[in-house]
Amino acid sequence: MKNIVAVVGVRPNFMKIAPFISEIAKYPEDFKAKLVHTGQHYDYKMSKVFFEDLDLLKPDYYLGVGSGSHSEQTAKVMIGFEMVLEKEKPDLVVVVGDVNSTLACALTSAKLRIKVAHIEAGLRSFDRDMPEETNRQVTDVLSDYLFTPSQDANENLKREGISSEKIFFVGNIMIDTLMRYRDKAEKNKIKEDLGLIKENYALLTLHRPENVDRKDALTQIFSAIEDLQKRIKIIYPIHPRTKKKIEEFGLKDEVGSMKNLILTPPLSYIEFLRLMLEAKLVLTDSGGIQEETTFLSIPCLTVRNNTERPITVDIGTNIIVGKSPEKIIEEAFHMLNGNLKRGEIPPLWDGKTAKRIVEILIRRR
Ligand code: UD1
Repeated sequence: MKNIVAVVGVRPNFMKIAPFISEIAKYPEDFKAKLVHTGQHYDYKMSKVFFEDLDLLKPDYYLGVGSGSHSEQTAKVMIGFEMVLEKEKPDLVVVVGDVNSTLACALTSAKLRIKVAHIEAGLRSFDRDMPEETNRQVTDVLSDYLFTPSQDANENLKREGISSEKIFFVGNIMIDTLMRYRDKAEKNKIKEDLGLIKENYALLTLHRPENVDRKDALTQIFSAIEDLQKRIKIIYPIHPRTKKKIEEFGLKDEVGSMKNLILTPPLSYIEFLRLMLEAKLVLTDSGGIQEETTFLSIPCLTVRNNTERPITVDIGTNIIVGKSPEKIIEEAFHMLNGNLKRGEIPPLWDGKTAKRIVEILIRRR
């Protein structure tokens, strides 16, 4: 029997851990898994609603770390997580993604000489201005199992000197969740509630510090949105970080005055998937949404200068547009004029990633 502790902390972690938890539960003789929620995200709409949507059981431990500076948040997770590890004495800790909770739990485990598995290993933006890049590099160097979503990730890891024996190309675990919940999303009523017509609206999300923590950057992006909403209705669920910044920078009236920009609170997984399924295009600075739109064949404009998910650009529907309003508008109008980027689904984004991961863990027991 192998004891596993799996970790979540923020909104995009829940859809990555859910398929793993449900797959590992099929082998009660081999594995016992406990779930730890660090509490990095804590609002109902950033956390609990995802447990409900994704049929996740209540976590076994909730560390309640909340918000704070990077060091404060990372340190609080480490202190709380060390106590869990002392009590549970697991054989393996499973972390996902690239957030502060991922790094903190990988580091705590490595210090106690507990093996770490990283799901979504090897992604690199090559941009240390992004806090996630540090989290990715440190987590990967500490991990014993590196489960990658695409071959480019394998190449990155090998280049950094990580032994090929630890690297497993298993595909994209978020796609397991998307495929599992697609039917449920199709029945969700949010599209009707917002009065939307298929392919007559765009979806917008923004939360990266590089875009939303600086007034000049945020103002520039909104100047592009101002033009774009004259052409197409835009649905914009606001991340709490961005909401705070819009208020702090005195941009609330300006954003609120755009007639065709529909502001909503953060949406649940099922609601957002419902809206993505029939959107004409998506504008985002999120990582996961670049992948989901590629899988769904929905055109995506990424409001960043780079991506750690180049496969979504190389063979998917993603275009990196940068942050200049002129470029955002040019590409968005180009798409609205019918020049939609068509793509293919990357290898092993097939709904069986969790199964492949668990099979590897069984073989290596
Ligand atoms: C974090 C991750 C980021 C991920 C994102 C997904 C890091 C370094 N960043 O960014 O990689 O893409 O989650 O959403 O780990 N807040 C609330 N309620 C909440 C959570 C946050 O109001 O439930 C507000 C707080 O003001 C907080 C701010 O959002 O200070 C930022 O939260 P934080 O967890 O530090 O980072 P995110 O921007 O959410």
